[in-house]
Amino acid sequence: MTPARILIADDDPAGRYLLVSTLTSAGYETYTAEDGAQALAVARGEAPDLIITDILMPQMDGYQLCREWEADPSLAHIPFIFYTANYADEEDERFALSLGADRFLRKPLEPGALLAEVKTLLENHRPSGVLPKPTKPADEARVLREYNARLVSKLERQLEEVQQANDQLVEMMNGTVRAVAKLTEARDPYTSGHQERVADLAAAIARRMGHDHLYCEGIRTAGLVHDIGKIAVPAEILAMPRRLTTEEFALIKVHPGVGHDVLSGIRFPWPVAEWVLQHHERIDGSGYPAGLEGDEIDVGARILAVADVVEAMSSHRPYKTGAGIDAALEEIEQNAGRFYDVGVAAACIALFREDAYSIPAANSGAVYSR
Ligand SMILES: [Fe+2]
Repeated sequence: MTPARILIADDDPAGRYLLVSTLTSAGYETYTAEDGAQALAVARGEAPDLIITDILMPQMDGYQLCREWEADPSLAHIPFIFYTANYADEEDERFALSLGADRFLRKPLEPGALLAEVKTLLENHRPSGVLPKPTKPADEARVLREYNARLVSKLERQLEEVQQANDQLVEMMNGTVRAVAKLTEARDPYTSGHQERVADLAAAIARRMGHDHLYCEGIRTAGLVHDIGKIAVPAEILAMPRRLTTEEFALIKVHPGVGHDVLSGIRFPWPVAEWVLQHHERIDGSGYPAGLEGDEIDVGARILAVADVVEAMSSHRPYKTGAGIDAALEEIEQNAGRFYDVGVAAACIALFREDAYSIPAANSGAVYSR
C-alpha cells in the first residue's frame, strides 16, 4: 500500500521540520509549502491525502487557504487540519471549523496525539468529489468581518509574544553587560562600583539634556563598560597608591582603545564602542587617545567624560581621598568649554543643584589617603 501523502503549510522552517519528522517517522510521505498560496498551487498540481496548515503565514494565511480549499471541488474532500500556536482561543477554533476544516489542533501536541488525529481522518476521509459538509449559504460579509477580527486578534497575541521575547533579550543583554563590568572591577577593587555609578550619572545627565529613553539606556550601557579596557592594564598600576609616572600613565592610556576593540564586536543599538573609545577626549584636544577636539567627539562620549570625572573626583581612590561632590562640580564648571562640553556640564550641575541628584552610595573598600 502506498503511504498517504501529507501536505504541510507553515512559514516557520522549524515548524515544518517538526511536522515532517513526526509524520515521516510514522511512515507517511510529506511535502511542504511556505504559505497558503504555495500550498494551494502544489495541491492543485498534486493533491495530497491530507493537509496540515498553520494560520499566520505571509501571502495567504491559513483561513484564506481553508476557504479556497473548501471551494475547490478537486480539494474539498481532502481532510484539512489547522495546527497552530498555543495562543489560539476557542473563537479561532469555532471560526476555523465554520470554514470547513476538520480539526483545529494547538501546538505543541504530543506526536502520538497528532498522529492519532491524522490516522482517524485518513481512515474516515470524505470520498473524492463529494463536498464535505452541507455549507450554509455563506454570508460573505459576516465571514469577512469575522475573518478580519480573528486575524487581528491573532496578530495582537503574536505581537505580545514577540514583545515578551524582546524584553527577555534586553534583560539578558543588561545582565551580560553587568557581569562583564564586574569582571573588570574584580581586578581593581579600589574602583569597585565606579562604572555602575558613572552609568547612573551619565544616564541622568542624558535625560536632563532631553535625550529620549532609548538613548539614555545606551549611555547607561556604555557607562557600565567604559573602563573595560583596563583589563589590559597591569593590576599593580591600577592600584598604585601614588601619582603615576609618564611611562605608567602611558599604560593606562591604552584602555579606551582596548575597550573599543572588545566592544566593537557587539552589535549594540548604540555606538557604545565609539563612546568608550572617546571617553577621555577633551574639548580642547588635550585628551587621549586621539586628541580629538570639540564636535569631533561624539556627544555620548562627552556625557561619559563628565560623569566619569565627577564620579572619580567625589570618590576615594588608592592615591587620593575623594575631593567631594562640590569640588567635582566646581572642576566641571570651571572647565566647561575647555575640557568639557558646555551643555553637558550645565546639565550635570543642574542635576545636582536643582534636581537634588546624588551619586548612588559608593562601595566602601580599602582607602589609601595621602
Ligand atoms: Fe576611563
